[in-house]
Amino acid sequence: DFTPTRDDHFSFGLWTVGWQGVDVFGGAVRPPLDPAEAVHRLSDLGAWGITFHDDDVMPFGASTQERLDHLTPFRKALADTGLTVPMVTTNLFSHPVFRDGGFTNNDRDVRRFAISKVADNIDLAVELGARTFVAWGGREGAESGAAKDVRAALDRYKEAFDILGDYVLAQGYDLQFALEPKPNEPRGDILLPTIGHALAFINELEHPELVGLNPEVGHEEMAGLNYAHGIAQALWHGKLFHLDLNGQHGPRFDQDLRFGAGNARGAFWTVDVVEHGGYHGPRHFDFKPPRTEDMDGVWASAAGCMRNYLILKEKSRAFRADPEVQAALAAARLDQLATPTVGAGESLAELRADTSESFDPEQAAARGMAFEHLDQLALEHLYGVR
Ligand code: GCO
Ligand code: MN
Ligand code: MN
Ligand code: MN
Repeated sequence: DFTPTRDDHFSFGLWTVGWQGVDVFGGAVRPPLDPAEAVHRLSDLGAWGITFHDDDVMPFGASTQERLDHLTPFRKALADTGLTVPMVTTNLFSHPVFRDGGFTNNDRDVRRFAISKVADNIDLAVELGARTFVAWGGREGAESGAAKDVRAALDRYKEAFDILGDYVLAQGYDLQFALEPKPNEPRGDILLPTIGHALAFINELEHPELVGLNPEVGHEEMAGLNYAHGIAQALWHGKLFHLDLNGQHGPRFDQDLRFGAGNARGAFWTVDVVEHGGYHGPRHFDFKPPRTEDMDGVWASAAGCMRNYLILKEKSRAFRADPEVQAALAAARLDQLATPTVGAGESLAELRADTSESFDPEQAAARGMAFEHLDQLALEHLYGVR
């Protein structure tokens, strides 16, 4: 009946339900949310995990004692509910010191501070049992051309992950980094704007094995890209370490709608890949309950994320199990796509000889691909008539 349980591995950012609705045109519409209360409410709704930025649970610049004081009620709530902390992340974007970013700020002293802040937070993440450390470089970028030397900035970006990777290895921490691409907002142009850019960047690092991705639905769709394809490629590279699930209506500002809202068809294929593509990590929601909502609306939208995921999971299962779909998949030759193009031990010379002897391009060109019927079946499952 689409009621979430711990086994579904749903997690939420503390900053999602805790978002007070501050935007560029107006101030807070909701009161601050106590992190311990967030833990209890999310647990009651059926969530399994909670994630946070350092500054979500303790004030920026807090001393060691202040940190402990702020963490005590949060940790008690975790212990009381059994909620886990699968992922932690660092805020390198809110404080004015990060106006030009953290790891790629033009100012060297700010970059050194950013690395220190992340290292502090890595220690905390490990203490709380997190296995993934997300790095969203929202302020790493520029609004204008000469302001940022992109090649130098990428050298500095790499330096940060190299030294932090060395630290994780030296400490023997069981922790991996997950880069979160985003094309723009808050910067005019953000570095590592898409899944593809981030995958290429990872290959240049000293410890690429420690670094993967945390792709967000809305961020890829803001760039006009297909999220399900993006995470499928990340899986193919072994780099889908984490996910940010939410909703978006095409290329516009970052809407952060609840999961399943916005591009519903995209959400269906997203769940299909997550469930059947070999991903085993948390189903993590990063959304912002709209500014129209009071706290009841916040909890309704959090519940909606999980419910929509479970509905789409059932639809994806039913789609795959439908005999007519199986026939349509065969008619569309998905089995052939899964077969290697070159035979075992076959040489290019043999392939060429075989092709020139027996392949008739005119005959092959006459074949239809039968994709429309297949997609119609998918839509009918999604629309609820099958
Ligand atoms: C955004 C981002 C952030 C990050 C978060 C964790 O567009 O606002 O998605 O919500 O996911 O800072 O790093
Ligand atoms: Mn977003
Ligand atoms: Mn956002
Ligand atoms: Mn995100």
